[in-house]
Amino acid sequence: MVNILHIDSSPRTERSHSRELSKQFISAWKAGHPEDVIAYRDLGHHPVPHVDEPWIAAAFSPPESHTPELAEAIQISDDLVDEFLAADRYVFGVPMYNFNVPSTFKAYIDQIVRPNRTFAVDAQGSYKGLVEGKKAVFITARGGDFSATSPLVAYDFQEPYLRAIFAFIGVTDILFINANSLDEGDDSRTQSLSQARAVIQDLITQW
Ligand SMILES: Cc1cc2nc3c(=O)[nH]c(=O)nc-3n(C[C@H](O)[C@H](O)[C@H](O)COP(=O)(O)O)c2cc1C
Repeated sequence: MVNILHIDSSPRTERSHSRELSKQFISAWKAGHPEDVIAYRDLGHHPVPHVDEPWIAAAFSPPESHTPELAEAIQISDDLVDEFLAADRYVFGVPMYNFNVPSTFKAYIDQIVRPNRTFAVDAQGSYKGLVEGKKAVFITARGGDFSATSPLVAYDFQEPYLRAIFAFIGVTDILFINANSLDEGDDSRTQSLSQARAVIQDLITQW
């Protein structure tokens, strides 16, 4: 039995391609693995808070030193980290916004990248990810074409950023399904979505 955390981050609902594709992934997965448990979080409709000064004070001090104010300030983050660590695998639906992730997804990352919970620093100042043995799939939706041969590829700060920050906490087994060219006309969108759907179907049997 595998625990999967499925997270969407588009503020759109029916019109969201990242939601539709991540939903397809999860439905296909459930069909083949009915015993697995899926937790769901919707950052697009229910964003998590940005970090603030009490949060920072709490995150960078030992829990046993926390005043009631600091304990409260870090509670949501603790719950999000618990949820994150309880999962074996992650399926993320992420639109590209301004060449990167939407701010709702960035706010989530800021909540779960936590010293002594998801990463540690040793006496020599080296960083170590504490999240081990997980797998992640990112399903991204982009209006333009950021594929390897596109002149826009240098503007893709989304995939490199997500690879870097998740590797930083220890999640290195990462796959990307990037649906490009979704806002470049009906033909491009149809082709891109059918390609993404086919990749999802293939991946389900190997993940
Ligand atoms: C605020 C905003 C910023 C966007 N920035 C980009 C961008 O930098 N590059 C791009 O290719 N598309 C961009 N888009 C288009 C979206 O990536 C595209 O519509 C995608 O399908 C959105 O995901 P969704 O369908 O799951 O909502 C942007 C859209 C919005 C609303």
